[in-house]
Amino acid sequence: MLTGVAAAWQRRGLGMAVKVAATHWAKAAGWERLNVGTAGVNAGMRAINDALGFKPMPGWSRWMKPVAGPGVSAPR
Ligand SMILES: CC(C)(COP(=O)(O)OP(=O)(O)OC[C@H]1O[C@@H](n2cnc3c(N)ncnc32)[C@H](O)[C@@H]1OP(=O)(O)O)[C@@H](O)C(=O)NCCC(=O)NCCS
Repeated sequence: MLTGVAAAWQRRGLGMAVKVAATHWAKAAGWERLNVGTAGVNAGMRAINDALGFKPMPGWSRWMKPVAGPGVSAPR
């Protein structure tokens, strides 16, 4: 899930409200934890995560590889 608020509506509490609602939904559904990701430069989502008590997970990073086009098979 990606939390997003249209630019014209940002900084009115909507992003925080959506994330709080998602947290309540997950808890009610029996989820034990939320594992979220955001870019280090995303000050808005980092501030929201901090305010809601999310903690960084040291040692974890994200990896990406495009798979469209040639070169998907494993090397021999
Ligand atoms: C990140 C995003 C969802 C925040 O939504 P928003 O509705 O603007 O956030 P809120 O109004 O609920 O902000 C809550 C608090 O977060 C912090 N915050 C939000 N945007 C910020 C920014 N650009 N810079 C610094 N702090 C920010 C502030 O502390 C803010 O409280 P304040 O306005 O009273 O100071 C929105 O900027 C967005 O849609 N960005 C593009 C998509 C994106 O990056 N999604 C997250 C992917 S992980």
